[in-house]
Amino acid sequence: MPEILLEMKNIQKYFAGVHALDDVSISINAGEVHALVGENGAGKSTLMKILSGIYQKDGGSIIYKGQEVEISSPLEAQIMGITMIHQELNLMPHLTVAENIFIGREPTRGIFVDDTKSNQMAKELLDSLNIDIDPTVRVNTLSIAKQQMVEIAKALSFENTSLLIMDEPTAALTEGEIQDLFKMIRDLRAQGKSIIYISHRLEELPQIADRVTVLRDGQYIDTLNIEDATRQKIISMMVGREIYYDPKEKSNVPEDAPVILEVRNLVANNVKNVSFKLRKGEILGFAGLMGAGRTETMRAIFGADPLASGEIYMNGEKVEIKSPYDAVSHGISYLSEDRRAFGLAIGLSVKENAVMASIEEFSSTLFMDDKKIADVTNEYVEKLSVKTPSINQLVRNLSGGNQQKLVVAKWLIKDSEIFIFDEPTRGIDVGAKSEIYDLMEQLVNEGKSIIMISSEIPELLRMSDRIVVMCEGRITGELDISEATQEKIMSYATMNM
Ligand SMILES: Nc1ncnc2c1ncn2[C@@H]1O[C@H](COP(=O)(O)OP(=O)(O)OP(=O)(O)O)[C@@H](O)[C@H]1O
Ligand SMILES: [Mg+2]
Repeated sequence: MPEILLEMKNIQKYFAGVHALDDVSISINAGEVHALVGENGAGKSTLMKILSGIYQKDGGSIIYKGQEVEISSPLEAQIMGITMIHQELNLMPHLTVAENIFIGREPTRGIFVDDTKSNQMAKELLDSLNIDIDPTVRVNTLSIAKQQMVEIAKALSFENTSLLIMDEPTAALTEGEIQDLFKMIRDLRAQGKSIIYISHRLEELPQIADRVTVLRDGQYIDTLNIEDATRQKIISMMVGREIYYDPKEKSNVPEDAPVILEVRNLVANNVKNVSFKLRKGEILGFAGLMGAGRTETMRAIFGADPLASGEIYMNGEKVEIKSPYDAVSHGISYLSEDRRAFGLAIGLSVKENAVMASIEEFSSTLFMDDKKIADVTNEYVEKLSVKTPSINQLVRNLSGGNQQKLVVAKWLIKDSEIFIFDEPTRGIDVGAKSEIYDLMEQLVNEGKSIIMISSEIPELLRMSDRIVVMCEGRITGELDISEATQEKIMSYATMNM
């Protein structure tokens, strides 16, 4: 019999209007990687926040290393050896990597923080984890992926950790970085540590997990050994129905569809001479590894970053886009990959966020049309199955994935000609993904055009009419969907390497 490290028994948790956990029990063995899956809002993060002392349970018990425990703060959890890496990154953006890792326990010399020592310790830690990041740089200069790696290094720097909780650690990582992370996880498991691993990427579970527990609507469904947990089985346990994705076989764009957007010789930060055309009614996929320059290209087009040179044409006419405001007034919307920084005002309600980008459409004269706002918000909350007790709920209180859905809703509500979606389904469960795909298809059927950046190749193959591949700031290939395959995309994506 494996040694049991932790049992959570009959856990209950209520929030105003929401029964987030209803009698959930889970048992974790020493030295196992235990995956926790379920739809957005199923209760995964809440269960783990109870375990890591952020929330208090309303019922049930926790038995850790054979003893019943109360975990009343994150510090207490830490002292017991339970550490959580959060879904929303929690680093201090203006501090350096080393400062973030050792915050609150900095090495000192006399009464001063010993920066040299701290940087050196951070470097040793990062090196031992094979993470190539300079400990002296400020965290806000790092990509999301790198910030994620810093969070992981920080969690692993607590030496007594026996249980590490990772809430969607791979959502923003590239394939290479994911493999590095998995190696780290395997090493930890070999040292007898336990890992609870939350992910929406079901395809990665067989690579890393020993067992899988499924939650649905705040309830425990079942725990399976990984050998028995096929993808279809997990999905049907998660959503109570089966979902299949088939790749698109041929482009839906008519031969004579006009070019709505043309970019010529664009040069910007990490963007080297990029040219492409987007046609009316088209879904143009952008593939590439993290850092390939896809986001930078779109930010430059949207006016969020300066262009060094290059031209942008809309409907054959040259346009000047110097700011996001200019882009929006030309009918371009941009759903950014960094939702937290650019997407939502978490202190405002669902309703306020939903119409934020299109507020002028809802104000006649001086007054807001509250009824219209409520109607459209309800419509999209329903269409995307955003799980919320009401449209007046503060966005802060929604689960991570439901916040993502709301950003998508916000841009769908804003009427535009061109939609740039940067990783639109990151962190979103399988059921809701297919709702987003349906809405995207509806948009192109109405004659809108879409650029979709995605790091999930199956998703690009499912949605795109044509796929542009980038590598190191350049376009290295372009494929009509009828000829596109995972292998061809990967070979273009690694062309210059
Ligand atoms: N602080 C809070 N106040 C009110 N409701 C909350 C709060 N935190 C979570 N909830 C609600 O509890 C439910 C479970 O949320 P939780 O964040 O645990 O979901 P999750 O399984 O982690 O989802 P995701 O995959 O989207 O991250 C959701 O309905 C959410 O809206
Ligand atoms: Mg969550």
